[in-house]
Amino acid sequence: MFLKLKQTKSQITMSSSRFIFFVYHLALALILQKAFGSQNCSNSGNFAANSPYAVNLNDLLNYLTSQTPQTRFANASFGQPPDRVYGLALCRGDMSSQDCETCVREAASEIQNRCPNNKGAIIWYYDCLVKYSNTDFFGQIDTQNKFYIQNPNNAANPTAFNLQTEGLLKQLTYQASRNSTLYAAGELQVYGLQRVYGLTQCTRDLSPSDCKKCLEDLISEYLPLCCNGREGGRLYSGSCLAQYEVFRFIRG
Ligand SMILES: *[C@@H]1O[C@H](CO)[C@@H](O)[C@H](O)[C@H]1NC(C)=O
Ligand SMILES: *[C@@H]1O[C@H](CO)[C@@H](O)[C@H](O)[C@H]1NC(C)=O
Ligand SMILES: *[C@@H]1O[C@H](CO)[C@@H](O)[C@H](O)[C@H]1NC(C)=O
Repeated sequence: MFLKLKQTKSQITMSSSRFIFFVYHLALALILQKAFGSQNCSNSGNFAANSPYAVNLNDLLNYLTSQTPQTRFANASFGQPPDRVYGLALCRGDMSSQDCETCVREAASEIQNRCPNNKGAIIWYYDCLVKYSNTDFFGQIDTQNKFYIQNPNNAANPTAFNLQTEGLLKQLTYQASRNSTLYAAGELQVYGLQRVYGLTQCTRDLSPSDCKKCLEDLISEYLPLCCNGREGGRLYSGSCLAQYEVFRFIRG
């Protein structure tokens, strides 16, 4: 992590776990909000400014910005081969349409700064993602683009807490794949452990069964790497999200 913190009196007086909590939130904010999204520029070719591809991409990003807020998801393609561009945007399922629009607008603008000439790219913000490509990727699980962020706080009873977290995410994976929105959120408390809140979500170009597979694969690959014994983790791929925390991070 690339955090540089100036210590101030107020931070020094925080307890160490509160301090870690504070740093974690700062890190989430820095990495995933505003200009600090995480991105991946694809090496599938470049386009020139003012080319037909640039025009189609601009149309696509405008369309995604205007359509995604209505149902928190949109996918579309613009132009004709070889200048056709395919793209999608997803907002977290608990987001207001207004916040969704702000997030997609900023992500769509920032991805063009970060990957200015790439025909394909993905950017994740804290609450939304925008992805495009010169090839038709709709309906395919994105196994290439993924990352995670870990809450550095350790759970009090890590082994039991891990099981509780896995149980919740498994249940939410099933629920998301059964819901037409491909989104689920919930909480679980096992006696004697901290309550855990979670959410799972897929991009809606996926079939229900591929949504389930995307979440199961992301969780089984990344949960142990990311979050073994930790109080929270955010797993992101180009096709699905799985997140949990011991605090109520889901809106509504
Ligand atoms: C970005 O894409 C490359 C090539 O597909 C992949 O190896 C890498 O893991 C990706 N990184 C992220 C953060 O998705
Ligand atoms: C689908 O998800 C929505 C939003 O989370 C929820 O209101 C609805 O009850 C869910 N439907 C089913 C069948 O679970
Ligand atoms: C969105 O993705 C689905 C595949 O899941 C595809 O059938 C559909 O044509 C796409 N929509 C648009 C507008 O491209």
